[in-house]
Order: sequence, then structure tokens, then C-alpha cells
Amino acid sequence: MTENIEIRRASPVDAGMLTDLAYKTFWDAFAGHPKNAPDDLDAYMKKAFAPETIRAELEEENSVFLIAEIKGEPAGYAKLMIGSTEDGISAERPCELNRLYSHQKFLGRGVGAALMDECLRIARENACDVMWLGVWEYNPRGQGFYRKYGFREVGSHVFQLGSDPQTDILMQKNL
Ligand SMILES: CC(C)(COP(=O)(O)OP(=O)(O)OC[C@H]1O[C@@H](n2cnc3c(N)ncnc32)[C@H](O)[C@@H]1OP(=O)(O)O)[C@@H](O)C(=O)NCCC(=O)NCCS
Repeated sequence: MTENIEIRRASPVDAGMLTDLAYKTFWDAFAGHPKNAPDDLDAYMKKAFAPETIRAELEEENSVFLIAEIKGEPAGYAKLMIGSTEDGISAERPCELNRLYSHQKFLGRGVGAALMDECLRIARENACDVMWLGVWEYNPRGQGFYRKYGFREVGSHVFQLGSDPQTDILMQKNL
């Protein structure tokens, strides 16, 4: 199942590729959901996945972007924010798993696992004691994946999609 998946850290030169990958994977995951109004999705995506937004995020000091590639082709990505926390998270030194997306073409082929393993390794290397994340209440696949990795529900927060205040479930895992 795991077929030559290479995981590497992204750098600012990856901004263009990462913008396309982030846009496409978000669109594929959520655009078809009846709870997402096209205008809200559009407003969020235009801002979150603008090249200048991704470029600035790549330069954030405590952020780590990981890119998964299969035969040189982008197959997924993850973003960690070391030290990021929020109400409801219990940690001394938290690490937020801010994004984790596999390209639709490679779903179920080990990309998510390879990214998650490297995220956990980096968080431990940075002496983090907890990894946490927010996952949309209507994303059962994401929730199932995180549960498999030992994340447990600890609360909820609002994720603003355009004009729509959506509910994300907060999950955390002790490292
Ligand atoms: C969640 C996601 C990242 C999983 O990635 P993936 O590349 O399909 O996952 P993998 O093929 O690496 O699967 C890894 C393991 O998790 C398991 N798994 C995958 N999805 C699962 C689910 N919904 N429930 C339980 N287990 C799951 C797989 O069976 C596999 O286990 P195994 O190694 O014992 O066979 C992917 O579905 C995705 O990108 N979804 C859209 C974006 C998203 O929802 N992201 C997370 C929310 S922000």
C-alpha cells in the first residue's frame, strides 16, 4: 500500500505548487457538501489559498509545511503550528495540526499516514506534549482518520467559512 511516498519540508520556493495543492484538496474535500454555500466557500478559499497568504504562512517562524510526493508528483500536504493553542486544549507545549490533506487521486494509499507519522515525529522532536486539531463536524472521514491515530474529542470551536460560522470538533492526542 505505501508506495514510495516521499515526505519533505516545504520552503518558500514551493509557494506556487502548495497554493494549487491546498486549493484543489480543499475544493475536492468540501465543495460538494450541501452544508457549504458556494459563496461562503468562495470567499474563504479566495483568501486562504491566495498565493500571498500561502507565501506568508511558509515564512511563519513556528509553522512547518510538509509535502508528500509520489514519483515527484504532489500527493498531499500538512501544516503544523508549534506552540499554537486554544481554549479547551490541555497542554504544556502544544502543537497544532493545522491542515492535513491527501490529493484525491491518492486517497487510501498511505499518504495521510506518512504525513501524520512525520508530523508526530517533528512535534516530539520539538518537545511538544500534545498535538491538537479542529475537524469539521460534518467530516466523518477526517474524524475517523484522527481517531485511528489516537486523537480524542475535547471540545469545539468556530471555523469561519465566509459568512458561515461552522463548528469544528477539537481533538487532541498526548505525545
Ligand atoms: C483524512 C485523510 C487525510 C486520510 O488520508 P489518506 O491518504 O486517505 O489515508 P491513508 O491511506 O494514509 O490511511 C492511513 C490509515 O488510516 C486509515 N484510515 C483512513 N481514513 C480513515 C477513516 N476515515 N477512518 C478510519 N481509518 C481511516 C486507513 O485505513 C489506514 O490504516 P491502515 O494503515 O491500518 O490501513 C484524507 O481522507 C483526506 O485528505 N481527506 C480530505 C481532507 C480532510 O478531511 N482532511 C482532514 C480534515 S482537516
